[in-house]
Amino acid sequence: MKIFNTRASLSEFLKKEKADGKKVGFVPTMGALHHGHISLIDLARKQSDLVVCSIFVNPTQFNDPKDLDRYPRPIDEDIQQLEKAACDVLFLPEVDEMYTAGETWHLELDELDNLLEGLHRPGHYQGVTQIVKKLFDTVEPDFAFFGQKDYQQFLVIEKMVQKLGLNVQLIMCPIIRKPDGLAMSSRNVHLNPEERKNALALYHTLDWIKAQFELLSIKELKEQAEKKLLESPGIVLEYLEICDGENLQPLHSKDAVKIVALVAAKLGQTRLIDNMLLKN
Ligand code: PAF
Repeated sequence: MKIFNTRASLSEFLKKEKADGKKVGFVPTMGALHHGHISLIDLARKQSDLVVCSIFVNPTQFNDPKDLDRYPRPIDEDIQQLEKAACDVLFLPEVDEMYTAGETWHLELDELDNLLEGLHRPGHYQGVTQIVKKLFDTVEPDFAFFGQKDYQQFLVIEKMVQKLGLNVQLIMCPIIRKPDGLAMSSRNVHLNPEERKNALALYHTLDWIKAQFELLSIKELKEQAEKKLLESPGIVLEYLEICDGENLQPLHSKDAVKIVALVAAKLGQTRLIDNMLLKN
């Protein structure tokens, strides 16, 4: 696997590869790789001639400096995993390679910036779009792969691609779960055994909503699921919503073409998100 630390060197290398007709699949990450990320690399490999992964813990998308400090950075293990997964290229820049002092960014994301994650993590999606735009400009991928676990992030990036007319095809890849159902996340390493056990309530509640979807109304599903989570030990619920899967507006009926249940909660110091498609 080739490793590049600068935008110029990566872009020069990729220009030559593209001139040979190669299609580039891109998997942007913040590292601390797990099977979820590797599943994105695997899908990228199936669909492209050259797989590029980036690892960059992007400071502008963290609204809590403590969260940024404690974000795991096991770079040697990450490189080993990428090599094992036959990733072709790793882009591994430092912060000053990606940002200059005093830089500003704003992209109008409409309602997506003001609900669910946008509401609970102000500025988060501005930071995400700021860095993903820079990464797309550098890699100029044909395809970019993102996990369904960050469902709202996918819609936000899709909106950016539409608004700025970027020439990249976005692919949403399924959530990868532990055998007991916990969604894989780089943040899971922070959970102590008790929190790890309590965190399962997120998956169990989403799974319960899915099982009851045909039997109960949206209002009943939301109220009863919220009650379950509020009564679950060790969980501080931030939100549980059943939304239109295309724009994340809260739903009152089941008319929407695509319906998704989304949840965010804190277990001790660790904030987790998860979601499940109810209708697709
Ligand atoms: O999903 C992530 O890991 C990050 O938000 C991303 C897309 C790599 C941007 O920093």
